[in-house]
Amino acid sequence: MAEIILVSSGKGGSGKSSFTAGVSRALAFNGYKVLAIDCDVGLRSLDLLLGVSDRVVFDWGDVILGRCTADKAIVSGEVSLLAAPPKYNDAFSPEAFAKLVKSVKSEFDYIFIDSPAGIDRGFQIAAAGAEKAIVVTTPDSVCVRSCGRAFDELYASGLTDVRLIINMFEVKPVCKRKLLNIDQCIDETGVQLLGVVPRDPNLGYCSVTGTVPSEFSPSTLAFSRIAKRLTGKRVPLVCE
Ligand SMILES: Nc1ncnc2c1ncn2[C@@H]1O[C@H](COP(=O)(O)OP(=O)(O)O)[C@@H](O)[C@H]1O
Ligand SMILES: [Mg+2]
Repeated sequence: MAEIILVSSGKGGSGKSSFTAGVSRALAFNGYKVLAIDCDVGLRSLDLLLGVSDRVVFDWGDVILGRCTADKAIVSGEVSLLAAPPKYNDAFSPEAFAKLVKSVKSEFDYIFIDSPAGIDRGFQIAAAGAEKAIVVTTPDSVCVRSCGRAFDELYASGLTDVRLIINMFEVKPVCKRKLLNIDQCIDETGVQLLGVVPRDPNLGYCSVTGTVPSEFSPSTLAFSRIAKRLTGKRVPLVCE
C-alpha cells in the first residue's frame, strides 16, 4: 500500500516538480515502486522532467471522465507517471481525484502528487488525494510566507503530517542579508524540516535538455538523502 504524499508550496517556481522527480527517482533507485502524479492542469511538466513526454497518451482527466482506465493512463517506467490534463472540467472534483488515487494505492510503495502553484482549485484537488504533505520553499521571505499559508490550509483540512524542504539553498548566498537561514525558514513556516536541497545549476540545465542530473550532482545527492529519510532511515542533514 502506497504512502500518498502531496508536494506543495503555495508559490510557483520553488522546485516542487524538480523535487518530485528527484525524490521519486531516488526511491525507485532503492527498489521502491513509485508513481508521480502531475496535478498542474494546463501546465504539466513532470513528463518532461521524467523524460517520458513522448509516451504520454492519456491523463488523469481521461480516467475521471471514463475515457480509459487508470492502468492505461499510467506511463510505466523507472518512475511511473500519471500526467495532468490540459484543462479543467467540472467533473474534476477533489472527491473524484481522491477516488482515483485510492484506486491505484495498492500498486505502489509511494505516490507523489505534484501540486500546482496557489492554494485554490488545483491545490484543493491535489490535497484531497493525499495522506501526508511536503511543502517546498526557497530561502526567501516571499516563498516562506506562501509555504506557511499552504501549511495552514493543509492543517485546517485535516492534513496534519507535513514536512518542510528548503530548496535552492546556498551556504554562501550572493545576497546574504536578503535570504533566510535554515532556522528562520523553519520558524517562519512553522513546519518540521525533512531536508535541504542545494542550489544546483545542473538541475536547470537538465530541465531544459530533458536529461537527468548525474549521480554525483549536489541535488541528486540531496534527493537521495531525503528519500532515505522518508523511508525512516537515520540520515544526517548535510548541506553541500
Ligand atoms: N535546487 C535547485 N537548484 C537550481 N535550480 C532549481 C532547483 N530546483 C528547481 N530549480 C529550477 O527552478 C525552476 C522551477 O522549478 P520547478 O520544479 O518547475 O518549480 P515548481 O514546480 O515549484 O513550479 C526550474 O527551472 C528548475 O530547474
Ligand atoms: Mg511544477
